[in-house]
This record gives sequence, C-alpha cells and structure tokens, in this order.
Amino acid sequence: MDRLADDLAAAIGTEHVLTDPDLMAGYTTDWTRRYRGDAVCVARPGTTAQVADVVRVCARHRAPIVPQGGNTGLVGGAVPAGAGVLLSTRRLRRLDPVDTLAAQVTAGAGVTIAELHAHVGAAGLEYGISLASRDSATVGGTIATNAGGLHTIRYGGTRAQLLGVEAVLADGSVIARLGGVPADNTGYDLAQLLAGSEGTLGVVTAARLRLRPAEPHAVTVLAGLDGVGTAVTLLAEIRARAPGVRAAEYFEAAGLTLVREHTGLPAPLPRAYPAYLLAEVAGPADHAERLAGIPLPGDAAVALDLPGSAALWAYRERHTEAISAAGVPHKLDIAVPLARLAALRGALGDAVRAASAPSGPPPLMIVFGHIGVGNLHVNVLGPDPADQAVDEAVLRLAAAYGGSISAEHGIGRAKVPSLRLNRSPQEIAAMRAIRTALDPAGLLNPGILFT
Ligand code: FAD
Ligand code: MLT
Ligand code: ZN
Repeated sequence: MDRLADDLAAAIGTEHVLTDPDLMAGYTTDWTRRYRGDAVCVARPGTTAQVADVVRVCARHRAPIVPQGGNTGLVGGAVPAGAGVLLSTRRLRRLDPVDTLAAQVTAGAGVTIAELHAHVGAAGLEYGISLASRDSATVGGTIATNAGGLHTIRYGGTRAQLLGVEAVLADGSVIARLGGVPADNTGYDLAQLLAGSEGTLGVVTAARLRLRPAEPHAVTVLAGLDGVGTAVTLLAEIRARAPGVRAAEYFEAAGLTLVREHTGLPAPLPRAYPAYLLAEVAGPADHAERLAGIPLPGDAAVALDLPGSAALWAYRERHTEAISAAGVPHKLDIAVPLARLAALRGALGDAVRAASAPSGPPPLMIVFGHIGVGNLHVNVLGPDPADQAVDEAVLRLAAAYGGSISAEHGIGRAKVPSLRLNRSPQEIAAMRAIRTALDPAGLLNPGILFT
C-alpha cells in the first residue's frame, strides 16, 4: 500500500497525495453521514494527463479507483466501498472563455456549478442545471450522476446540457470530444454514455456544455395547499397560462417545521398548510400578469423581485440541510407519472410505518421534491441507518406505481439491490457488458450500480 502511495506521489507530487486519516476524513464520509469507506490515499491530480497517470498507477497495482467531485452525492457513490484510491477531481479547474456565438462553454470536472453559473452569467448566458448543492457539486459529478435539480422541468437534466466530454478510461487512455459541433452523427455518443455512469466507465475530466440566453425572473409564487393532488392541479393551471415555468417544487408541513427550526425563518404564510407548491416563472414581466387570474386554493405569497424570490426559495432549498441536522436520513428519490403522484403519496405513510421496526423510534417522514417532473424526495428519520427495510419498501412502492427508483440521484451504493425493480435482467446484462468492455478488471468504482 505504501508503494502505491509512493508511486502516485511520484506521478502527481507528494503534496497532492493525502494519506493522513484526518485529512482524508472529509473525503471518505459521504454528505449524509450514512456511508463511510477506507481509502489507501486521496489523489488530487491537477491535469488530465495526471488523471491518466493516477489511473495507470492504480491499474498497475490493481487498486480500485473511486472518482469524487464535490462529495455531495446522496447515494454513497463517491466514497470507497472497500480500500482503494480516492481520485478527487477538484483541482481540474479549467474554465474556457464562453463561446457566445455557439452558446457553449468548456469546463473542467472540478469546477463547481456555482462557479459555472457566475462565469457564463457574466456573458449573459445561463447553464440549465441548478441545485441547492451548487457551491460544492462539480461539473464532473453532475455529469456522472446525470443530476437533475430545480430547473429540470424547463431545461431537462444534465444529459440535455451535454455536448461532449473529455475523460480518462480505465486503461489510462484519454477520449476527448470538446469541439461542440451540435450536428454530429458519427456513431456512439460516448458523452451521453458517461452521463449517469457514476464513475464506473471513466473519469470525466472536462465537458463541453450547452448554454442558453439568461431568462429574466418574472414571478415566484408560494401557495399553501391541502396535498399533492391539489399541487399537481394548480401546477397544470399555472403551466397552461404561463409558458415559462422553470421550477415547480413541492414540500409539506413536516419539512417546513424542520427548516424553520434549523434556520429560524418565520412562517412563510399567515396560516399553516399540509402542503406547499413553489413555482417560478421566467420570461417577460407579463408572464406574472398571466397568473393573476388563477384562483389559488389557500394563501399565497408572490415575489416579483429577486430578493423576494430568494426568501421564498429558502423554505424549499434548505430542506436537505435541515433534515440532516435532525439525524441521518434514509433518502429515497423516486418519480412516478404525474397522474399517479397523489395515490403514491397516499400509500407512502403506511409503507414506511409497516417497514419500520416496532421496537424503534416512530419514523418521521419528510416528503418534498421536483413535482413538475413527478419526482418526490422521501426522507425518513428514525430507523437505524444500516436498516434497509424502509428503503426497500419505498422503492418497491415507486416501482409498483410504474415509476423510477432513482429520479435524479443515481443508484450509487444505496440502491444496488433495487436496480432490478426498474431494469430487466437483459438491460442489466447489457450494462454489465459495456462496463466489462471498458474496464475488464473492474477497477473503476467497484460496488457502484452493480454488485
Ligand atoms: P460526488 O458526490 O463527488 O460524486 C457523485 C458520483 O459521481 C459518484 O459516483 C462519483 O464516483 C462520481 N463522480 C464524481 N466526479 C466524477 C468524475 N469527474 N468522473 C467520473 N465520475 C465522477 N442532485 C440532483 O440531481 N438534484 C438536486 O436538486 C440535488 N440537490 C442537492 C442538494 C443538496 C443540499 C445536496 C447535498 C445534494 C443534492 N443533490 C442533488 C445531489 C448531488 O449534489 C448531485 O448528485 C451532484 O451531481 C453530485 O456532484 P458532486 O460533484 O458532489 O459528485
Ligand atoms: C433536492 O432537490 O433538494 C435534492 O435532491 C436533495 C435531497 O434530496 O435532499
Ligand atoms: Zn432533488
């Protein structure tokens, strides 16, 4: 093991190979604190060539490699399942000038989404992915997880933003397609294959990303409602009137209580409600006027300016940290067709209660998410973090309602046993065949996606 760290230090510099357990701790525990792992060392290459060197050294030593960006993933995919080398991409900080003619930019894997927003925003353009982890989540990590987020309803997930990637494969070879030619029909699209591959097919080192003209904020509405069914109906009315809905988020009383306890924020509306819809419309100011005629079923707060909008968004965006401050959550990220969302929500309580150990604390369920794309984040506090029963019950329910067991977070380590609920044996075999072809020794992120 010492030889491995020494060889890595020779390749990328001693100061970029961490072996001190205290320094490694922030890399080997995941954001939720539910998953931990051991690493021989953390390697922090600063260039694509150095990433290739790290991969070659690891291959020579037959050492598993766990790529990691901002370590904000929520399915345990970025922390080692066994001993290996944690390859941090945070020093891959290339950020090219914005190509305003093509509305594209090339960014290194370690650039954070917030840094990318600031860079392209200065050129009057916008990147389609926005998520509450933006200050830490990286370009490479969001590609590897095919991250969704707050604007998926309007711009799609990360795959829809991706024009090409540069990546290091398991044999140390580099593939690069950063030219940004949108009309390109020359065989397999390797960038799209790497999107959502969760570090199992290659280490993304840079990407060519699609941008769009920045859309002005028109209006943000927070409406108090009686449940997910009325939220879906209200959203349909808003979308029918305002073409520029770019976020439609849902949360409930349990989550709002935790957020308010954690942040000290005041109540958002004069009265309390079981459920809330937060919708943001972009575009010209008249889009706000178009909403005026919609009969809101309860109270609503309306923000026409950015500070007012940010104040409303805090109630939604601070859910994840507030939940984690209250304990180590079971985080299930599911999606079903919109028409089935209310029925699924109705069935969740019984499923979670039935799966919780009778001797344990009563489960606290916090449900929120990207309702516009049928995506609910089901968080359960109480059951032991090592107990998988609640996780399996919720994922089985999502599959039974014709939905996805992972709307946006990926499979990681957390959902490996449940992949078969959504993917046929033939599909899993095809995915395995691709992985084996690109990484015959199985060195890249073993234990993620498949056993
Ligand atoms: P990491 O956590 O470091 O890694 C995630 C996975 O990608 C791992 O499997 C890792 O091995 C792999 N990986 C990382 N970098 C590379 C690379 N360069 N090449 C190959 N593989 C790599 N997710 C959403 O989809 N939508 C949300 O709205 C959202 N909101 C969040 C809010 C909060 C507060 C938090 C904490 C998380 C949220 N997430 C959300 C989850 C998380 O931010 C995303 O999954 C994000 O894409 C992870 O990026 P990262 O750089 O932190 O990746
Ligand atoms: C979000 O939408 O805020 C995230 O996906 C994070 C979470 O699920 O906690
Ligand atoms: Zn989310």
